[in-house]
Amino acid sequence: MLQTAPLSTPHVEVDSNRAREFTNVRPFEEIPGHPGWPVLGNTIPMMATPVTFLENWYKKYGPISRTRSVGVDILLLLGPELNRLILLDPHEAISSRQGLSFYMDPFFKDGLVLLDFDEHKLHRGIMMSAFRKERLAEYLNLMNPVIDDHTDRWMQTRGGRPLDRRTFYFFPNFKHMALQIATRVFMGHELDANGDKLIKAFQDVVAASVAVVRKPIPGTAYYRGIKAREMLEDYFYSHIPEKRANPGHDLFSQLCIAEDDDGNTFTDEQIVNHMIFLMMAAHDTTTMTTTRVVYHLAKHLDWQEKVRQECRALETDFLTPDHVMDLPNLEMVIKEALRLCAPVPGLPRKTIKDLNIGGYFVPAGTQVQVDMRHTHYMDEYWDDPHEFRPERYAEGGIENKAHRYAWLPFGGGAHKCIGRHFGLYLIRAVVHQLTQKYRWHVRPGYKMPLKNPGLPMPADGFPVTFERL
Ligand code: HEM
Repeated sequence: MLQTAPLSTPHVEVDSNRAREFTNVRPFEEIPGHPGWPVLGNTIPMMATPVTFLENWYKKYGPISRTRSVGVDILLLLGPELNRLILLDPHEAISSRQGLSFYMDPFFKDGLVLLDFDEHKLHRGIMMSAFRKERLAEYLNLMNPVIDDHTDRWMQTRGGRPLDRRTFYFFPNFKHMALQIATRVFMGHELDANGDKLIKAFQDVVAASVAVVRKPIPGTAYYRGIKAREMLEDYFYSHIPEKRANPGHDLFSQLCIAEDDDGNTFTDEQIVNHMIFLMMAAHDTTTMTTTRVVYHLAKHLDWQEKVRQECRALETDFLTPDHVMDLPNLEMVIKEALRLCAPVPGLPRKTIKDLNIGGYFVPAGTQVQVDMRHTHYMDEYWDDPHEFRPERYAEGGIENKAHRYAWLPFGGGAHKCIGRHFGLYLIRAVVHQLTQKYRWHVRPGYKMPLKNPGLPMPADGFPVTFERL
């Protein structure tokens, strides 16, 4: 379905307009679609109800279409086979950096996902040493006490008196906890006033990256983001010598001493850029996934009980890596939560060579987008796609095996999420502790409203009632 111009000829590079090199291709202009409103394009309907919008769009225009979102012309590629072709990118014809820099620069410059090809491979190889199984076990050890402390405090009055029952907003409370975990596990920093300043700086950087006004004018979110990034840079640069000399079990220390099989290591600048990107990549994704898992378990009390029983059977207060394979029900619930609401909804890329995609000529420099929100709901691959049915992943179940790229909350190919096991450990550790301490539910008929400013989030903070066991 996808081919480049012959690789032996030099003219496959950027900006060459050589449709005639391909045989039987139709011109780019014939690709169906609709740009939507001036400037905004289809941003508003796409953000309001993305799954429905994309279902209708696919019915009307098919798997390859042109649209416009947030002022950018996009070639929308829908379905597992196109996901596979774009993400595997065997011809090195598709740039992640160029596809993402509009959204990520300057706040997350040179983060791993913004590197391409050989440079990316080198950095990923070094970074992998910070995500080995032994390292993950240490991160889990650092996380567990913070989770324990916070989930206890959720159920206490100001005077510290434990409550039996409390309705509260899960999302902001969990977000706070996740930031404290990041301070401890990512930075190896104590949970003190300086830790709070780092958290604030990190939040300002994230807010600035999605700001509408994109100029450093004092008083704007963008300006605060620039200042906050400077503060984070100063913090990381100043702590590198001590982390190298005396590394702890935190991720920052591990990046400082990370080495690939050939002995390559990161420079100070690379460590700083990777740390700031890693914190961003980890935070909203795991926060949203945990929120959705807790939400589904609040709505499906039979599944909550199944998960509680298997967690209880482990007879441990804190989860360790040895336990994680013994929670098959929780595993299926997490998978289904990630299918129904992928925290990273789409993957932007840019073509850097002329391509033939599905019989259409696609020039170098085209912004393309893979979209999980659509793939995860395609009825060609999923029975009752809108239903929460974790059993679809049960052993012997075929649904998730229908196509390797039909379930892709962690992306695929060279940039597949390097932190997925870390994220899954955190989610499992939280749910494990919650099921041992509490039973929880939502009001009858409750359906979490989502807002989609970039990544999906609960519009109402997700109100839920916890009862002590
Ligand atoms: C449930 C939680 C998570 C989800 C759903 C998720 C999702 C993703 C996705 C879809 C990508 C691919 C991006 C692309 O190709 O453009 C990605 C990449 C990445 N993620 Fe995650 N992520 C999660 C947790 C984490 C955590 C906890 C970390 C760090 C500890 C992390 C670090 C990264 C990094 C560094 C990349 C770039 C990898 C590369 O370019 O080689 N993620 N993630």
